[in-house]
Amino acid sequence: MSKETLSKIEVWKGDITTLEVDAIVNAANKTLLGGGGVDGAIHRAAGPELLAECRTLGGCETGEAKITKGYNLPASYVIHTVGPVYSKTNPNVARLLANCYKNSLALASRHNLSSIAFPAISCGVYGYPIKEACKIAVDTTCNFLETDQTIKKVVFALFSEDAYKVYTTYICS
Ligand code: APR
Repeated sequence: MSKETLSKIEVWKGDITTLEVDAIVNAANKTLLGGGGVDGAIHRAAGPELLAECRTLGGCETGEAKITKGYNLPASYVIHTVGPVYSKTNPNVARLLANCYKNSLALASRHNLSSIAFPAISCGVYGYPIKEACKIAVDTTCNFLETDQTIKKVVFALFSEDAYKVYTTYICS
């Protein structure tokens, strides 16, 4: 990770729905019709118009990403991505999780957004071990930032002290 790339990355602990960035990323499910966890928090904070727009999107495949407005959120946009359900025996989960970050960043860049915040995708209900997921999230994001000129800030928004420590330890290692 080059110094220039690292300077674009921030690790922050708190509720992602409060962040004033161009886009926050939602850890959604394939229906894009809301759920619990960060999905539920984002829909509650954005208001019913978010669900109304999500209904027009026709769902989302695992690893893919789709964009909507942010409505009542401080963020202008929400990028909805669907993480893999963790499985020790499925070798595809790491690639699918990496695709969530890659496709969300590419979508943000295509929309000329310069700041984006990610939750720890798949690390809640979908059961992805935080240390493995953190490595995939940070490495994939750094690789993307090495060749992209549009995105200037990526915030990893963690909801627990443990997750925050895993990310700060990995990034400073
Ligand atoms: N801000 C930031 N992070 C949050 C917030 C929040 N407000 N709420 C929860 N998180 C964290 C969780 O602590 C976890 O580390 O987001 C991470 C992802 O957890 P989940 O929200 O459970 O998402 P995921 O594991 O990807 O499972 C997705 O859960 O909510 C449903 O509809 C969703 O079916 C989908 C599944």
